[in-house]
Amino acid sequence: EEEYRSPWNSSNVPQQVFHSVKMWNAVNKFHVPYKRRRQKFFKSRDELQREVEERVALRTVRAGDGPFSGDDWDAFLPKKDLRELLGPMKRCAVVMSSGSMRDSSLGSQIDEHDAVIRFNAAPTKGFSADVGNKTTLRLINSQLMTVEAKFLSNPLYHTGVLIVWDPAPYSRDLYAWYKKPDFNFFPKYKEYRKAHPEQPFYILSPSVQWDLWDVIQENSETDIQPNPPSSGMLGITVMMSLCEEITIYEFLPSRRRSDLCYYFKGHINKQCTIGHYHPLTFEKMLIKRLNRGHNCDIHDFGKVSLCGYSRPTM
Ligand code: C5P
Repeated sequence: EEEYRSPWNSSNVPQQVFHSVKMWNAVNKFHVPYKRRRQKFFKSRDELQREVEERVALRTVRAGDGPFSGDDWDAFLPKKDLRELLGPMKRCAVVMSSGSMRDSSLGSQIDEHDAVIRFNAAPTKGFSADVGNKTTLRLINSQLMTVEAKFLSNPLYHTGVLIVWDPAPYSRDLYAWYKKPDFNFFPKYKEYRKAHPEQPFYILSPSVQWDLWDVIQENSETDIQPNPPSSGMLGITVMMSLCEEITIYEFLPSRRRSDLCYYFKGHINKQCTIGHYHPLTFEKMLIKRLNRGHNCDIHDFGKVSLCGYSRPTM
């Protein structure tokens, strides 16, 4: 119960998180500079909102970007950008895969949103009372694309717009990334585009993950993991740049919080919620500071309300 009263504050970071930070800093796989910038003054919510808006732009790979040129990339990469494709959207929902989504009965309120984003292999079938039915976007990681044997044929992936991201070098250098992606999803991407040419499928630019990471690091009091933000956090920024208002479900977990990792699987692991590889605890502290809703909505429903980049017209 203690954890619920003031979770995701800098005074409340679990010891385990500091161990993860230390461990991943020793690895520093993505060559993040060791000298970290930290802002001197604690920003207000509105200053922080402005900073995210100004520094984290939604970019996807376009034909002709660095190594992504030639006939095949011309044919496979989407011509329209995401904003053009989806248009300006008003109310959007971000549904985390957290165990605390289970038995939430949030499904119908999630479906009332104009657009819903889900992550990786998170299903709706069999769980719609808790997580809803609607899937407008699905953000997946490159690991899933290369590891999941049925990625091309599994109907789970055939609904909505797909976006894939891959942990890229901190340098944001497209050539270095192209030569050595974390998981080589490029051939699978082309295969998928051939098999499902009608379904929009985007590749997130590496600048998104590291621009976002910079903002998280600079607004944290301590060093964070030198690894890209979680899919969930990337999805929040995707929706912030596409929508006027965003509701996030079970990123800051409700009273239903437990050590259950996912709502759709039985395995138990605390780190799913506090992070190990990803700077998840620090992502959550930042989102808490951006929240415009009430703390009781977090406690009761696992709900956070954010403003998007585009403001409603008055
Ligand atoms: O593990 P996966 O990335 O597929 O999960 C989707 C997102 O949901 C995560 O990236 C993370 O942001 C969020 N999540 C969470 N707590 C959990 C499980 C997932 O915050 N227990």
